[in-house]
Amino acid sequence: MPLTGRKTLTQYLIEERRRFPEASGDFNALILDVAMACKAIARAVAFGALGDVLGNHAAAAGGTVNVQGETQKKLDVLSNEYFLRITEWGGHLAGMASEEMEAPYQIPGTYPRGKYLLVFDPLDGSSNIDVNVSVGSIFSVLRAPAADDREVTEADFLQPGTQQVAAGYALYGPTTMFVLTVGNGVAGFTLDPNLGEFMLTHPELTVPADTQEFAINASNSRFWEAPVKRYVDECLAGRTGPRAKDFNMRWIASMVAEAHRILMRGGVFLYPRDTKDAARPGRLRLLYEANPIGFIMEQAGGRASTGRVPMLGVQPEALHQRIGLVFGSKHEVERIERYHAEPPEHLDLAHPLFGERSLFREEMAL
Ligand code: AHG
Ligand code: MN
Ligand code: MN
Repeated sequence: MPLTGRKTLTQYLIEERRRFPEASGDFNALILDVAMACKAIARAVAFGALGDVLGNHAAAAGGTVNVQGETQKKLDVLSNEYFLRITEWGGHLAGMASEEMEAPYQIPGTYPRGKYLLVFDPLDGSSNIDVNVSVGSIFSVLRAPAADDREVTEADFLQPGTQQVAAGYALYGPTTMFVLTVGNGVAGFTLDPNLGEFMLTHPELTVPADTQEFAINASNSRFWEAPVKRYVDECLAGRTGPRAKDFNMRWIASMVAEAHRILMRGGVFLYPRDTKDAARPGRLRLLYEANPIGFIMEQAGGRASTGRVPMLGVQPEALHQRIGLVFGSKHEVERIERYHAEPPEHLDLAHPLFGERSLFREEMAL
């Protein structure tokens, strides 16, 4: 053990690499570059109003809009720049894709190209920036197509979550943390503000299979599909309902912070497909939100699903594809999947939870 008494992220990565004697070290260097980008973002976030980083990007012009149709915050754009600049030079990447860029990013010709693709949400939960609530960054590492000199295309990134080489997130909360899976469990690191190093503080994170805590944006309840409505109503019914236990509810509106809470103490998160906007099947994005968080959850013994099928098996169809997302404690996610699988005619429509007395007082949308 080093003098600091804890393993650094670097040491963790080197020890992991020893399992693969043929590994070149490219992968470790890439993860350390990503961690560096996260440290840079953590510093920018920490300066808040003092750093002139709050508010909308190009505020004078009323803000810029990204491919999602969302107004970009200054920190969305800055965080995206940090990811690009800090990882593009190393020779480990063939290309990148981000929430903030419509098309894949090509590695500039002045740098060597590598064998990985990096996909990221540079700042998740960015509506929380201006109110000083936790935000984070999410990333996923995929293999690049066989080496040739062509530019990367959108199709190169359309790989199911099972193909991820690694995934992780940084959380910029009261402490900055870096949580990583390289397909061998999940490890959590805390940024030591004195050393500027991520130190291993949470080895082998696991998600308890059972929970009494759920997270969902209840303002969307009138748009929910019947299985989701049933699940939430049963949670709300508490001890006197079919679950025979009381539930607690949380909603931070930073998915990365909800994922972290669930890794720490269990819980279930739902941003399901709903009927709000037929053109948007779900709110969150498959490639840089659902898949990396899904990989982490599964590596920690939890589960991630669309509600209908395992998230990591979904074949992506577009870079910025949205999808219904349910993740967290295994038994709860399985229960939600069961509710989706049950044919509607098997539901007890006379049950008070589905009728006029629904706790959200909504008709069932089948
Ligand atoms: P982003 O800031 O990257 O666009 O993601 C925000 C996401 C996610 O973090 C969060 O769970 C969700 O949007 C919040 O949605 P609501 O505004 O519906 O609460
Ligand atoms: Mn996000
Ligand atoms: Mn974002």
